[in-house]
Amino acid sequence: MSKYDVCVIGAGPGGYVAAIRSAQLGLKTAIIEREYLGGVCLNVGCIPSKAMITAAHFLHRAQHDAPTMGINIKGIDLDMKKLVGWKQSVCDRMSKGVEQLLKGNKVEIISGEAKFKTTSQLEVKSSKENIIVEADKFIVATGSRPIAIPGFDIDENEVCSSTGALAMETLPKKVVVIGGGYIGLEISSYLAKLGSEVEILEAGKSLLAGVADKDCVQVVARKLKKLGVKVHFGAFAKNYKKKGKSFEISAEVDGSMKTFTSDKILLTVGRKPNSDEMGLKDIGVQIDERGFVKVDPQMRTNHPNIFAIGDIAGQPMLAHKASHEAVLAAEVIAGHNRVYDAKTVPAVIFTDPEIASAGMLEEECKAAGYNDLKIGKFPFAANGRAVSMMEAEGFIKMIADAKTNILLGVHIVGPEASNLISEAVLAIEMGARLEDLALSIHPHPTLGETMMEAAEATLGHAIHMIQKPLKSKGPAGPSARA
Ligand code: FAD
Ligand code: NAI
Repeated sequence: MSKYDVCVIGAGPGGYVAAIRSAQLGLKTAIIEREYLGGVCLNVGCIPSKAMITAAHFLHRAQHDAPTMGINIKGIDLDMKKLVGWKQSVCDRMSKGVEQLLKGNKVEIISGEAKFKTTSQLEVKSSKENIIVEADKFIVATGSRPIAIPGFDIDENEVCSSTGALAMETLPKKVVVIGGGYIGLEISSYLAKLGSEVEILEAGKSLLAGVADKDCVQVVARKLKKLGVKVHFGAFAKNYKKKGKSFEISAEVDGSMKTFTSDKILLTVGRKPNSDEMGLKDIGVQIDERGFVKVDPQMRTNHPNIFAIGDIAGQPMLAHKASHEAVLAAEVIAGHNRVYDAKTVPAVIFTDPEIASAGMLEEECKAAGYNDLKIGKFPFAANGRAVSMMEAEGFIKMIADAKTNILLGVHIVGPEASNLISEAVLAIEMGARLEDLALSIHPHPTLGETMMEAAEATLGHAIHMIQKPLKSKGPAGPSARA
């Protein structure tokens, strides 16, 4: 039997980060992983999907933008098998990097599937042996898995989750994607750019409802249409049958039954936490009605020696949230006086263009009691760098409290939104006012200038845009700071 100060279960961006931080803090640490170091994120999630998105964008630009720039590329050809091989090499490299980091920090890596026997003991089963692991503290970071719906069992062949979709070595001619959320939209965008005909069946009345700013979503919806992606709202897929090499999918769309044909079916209707596994209920760990392990602001479950982080510990199911909670849990275990106090978890949807947000949506600001808001937008079409990149679709929208000019939310749709949003995160965390962004010198010519001009626009005086005087009261701009 092995005994540790800390035992982490699951080596995703929650688990491996928790293990490294625990070891850095001088704790004898083990990490148990049943499948792949780096978890969903590095192996079948964030990294492979972004690799495919990058490649598809590259192809699309070579086909559609390069000729406008006078670059005529002849004989462009897609080798899907090679592309998937390259994507896998990216994942393998990242996963190997995690292994080196864990070993370099003297974290013991145990391969196998863990299950709690008691609140202080785990059984780990692998093809080689079964062992018992004891620890003073456990950090559960076992993540989530795709949800299936009646009539559609995920077999990663006929009906694929994101995992199967990312591994397809042949580009399907026609794809039906059930669920137009994060995964559905990211995968639909890249498949359409690679050359598939894509139809999305979305149960809701709009894309990304309640998740992203409505104006931002409209820009992406327009681009999806341009890419040939058809979206059906109010659509519930019921079942499918094989017809030759293709499938016929029956779905209720706005109350009437319709049939869709496709060569692959992608099921992307959400993910659920893996809290029904590894004996958590048997040892009395409390789990909420949505399946998330209940934790306090220090990521502790109802058992004081068991912590939970990442996808299993609640929304949003995002890698950076998992890693943030990981460091917090490790530091709490090491005796640091910390609680979860992040003001915002940024979110990025890697569509074309990308959508990124930090802070509150307009409706959330109102629900939180901010009745007088200043809202401003600055378009990428007025930014020299965006135009010179031929990627000038979209805008940055800022929302501030009109009484104080304190920034409440930033919503970006446009080029490099994923990178631009970090400035907004810092601003919101520091309680910045619009003037802090407007008066910070941003280098030219960069997409970052759009952030400065969006702040100026919200104050009513962007330079590269004609603006009407602001009606709302409150501090008016830089002079109000003196
Ligand atoms: P995971 O990464 O799921 O890791 C859990 C690990 O625990 C797994 O390796 C699993 O094998 C292991 N495990 C489970 N049970 C046991 C057990 N009993 N014993 C031993 N090991 C066990 N998020 C972003 O922030 N940005 C993105 O761009 C993004 N893109 C995504 C794209 C896709 C296609 C998908 C599916 C997800 C994406 N996500 C993205 C979400 C992100 O992957 C998750 O939020 C993140 O991986 C959660 O990290 P985690 O450590 O909680 O769990
Ligand atoms: P999701 O929750 O983002 O979207 C699911 C969509 O499916 C919703 O629009 C929902 O209305 C729809 N839906 C639900 N049931 C349906 C049904 N029966 N028929 C048709 N539509 C239905 O879930 P998704 O896309 O599976 O992603 C899971 C999670 O993974 C995300 O919520 C996010 O946390 C994470 N993720 C993050 C990414 C990023 O950060 N860029 C990328 C991919 C995933």
